[in-house]
Amino acid sequence: MMTTMIDVRALNQYYGQSHTLWDIDIEIAQGQCTCVLGRNGVGKTTLMQSIMGLVPNVQGEVLFSGQNMVKLPAESRASMGIGYIPQGRQIFSQLTVEENIRTGFFASRSKLKNVPATIYELFPVLAEMRRRRGGDLSGGQQQQLAIARALVLEPTVLIMDEPAEGIQPTIVQEIADVIKSLVRDKGITVILVEQKLAFARQVGNHYVILDRGRLMAKGLMSDLDDTIVDQYLTV
Ligand SMILES: Nc1ncnc2c1ncn2[C@@H]1O[C@H](COP(=O)(O)OP(=O)(O)OP(=O)(O)O)[C@@H](O)[C@H]1O
Ligand SMILES: [Mg+2]
Repeated sequence: MMTTMIDVRALNQYYGQSHTLWDIDIEIAQGQCTCVLGRNGVGKTTLMQSIMGLVPNVQGEVLFSGQNMVKLPAESRASMGIGYIPQGRQIFSQLTVEENIRTGFFASRSKLKNVPATIYELFPVLAEMRRRRGGDLSGGQQQQLAIARALVLEPTVLIMDEPAEGIQPTIVQEIADVIKSLVRDKGITVILVEQKLAFARQVGNHYVILDRGRLMAKGLMSDLDDTIVDQYLTV
């Protein structure tokens, strides 16, 4: 049976006069990975930021375990257990790897003093590089760092916005494996924005497709067929 973790209902969003998201209804299944697909500029990031509370003028409901969060600030949503990994990673290049991870502590529910060993077990390369500056890391290592920073929150839900963007293929597979393990072994609910269909098919249980700010299709990843792909995803 599918339990809904996050329920987005009749969501509309506006940047000033510009109506960006239109009447979005999405159910995010607990303990599974839902991929948000769509071409450039269709509103994927805006939808993630609407769920996280990072954009203005969001109307409708965002229910988390049944509670409407739509008026809550992002910090409250983080404290409730929603982790957010922004597009482009946004790590601090002047801070060390360890300091970057520590910036995730502020919103964590358990009052952490040190980076949990499990984080470095998941990403051994970050343990090796813990005293190096964030800016010295490769793109793939920075993405691992961004995931690590979000994980110290011990999130129930993890939102990841295009984690494989601009990363060399060998590391892309490592990131896919990490996401699968977060879902399978830790029971984390993942919302993954992704443009690479092969990646999405590999890690996703469900898909939703946006086009020009509207929800065009949703369902089981195993049911995502070529007609839909050609219509909404191929360029
Ligand atoms: N801060 C903003 N102010 C005004 N308009 C914005 C803002 N951010 C995004 N937009 C516009 O909203 C629309 C959706 O953008 P968004 O970044 O959500 O798309 P996306 O699907 O994530 O794109 P990409 O695949 O390139 O990451 C675009 O037309 C974009 O220009
Ligand atoms: Mg985006």
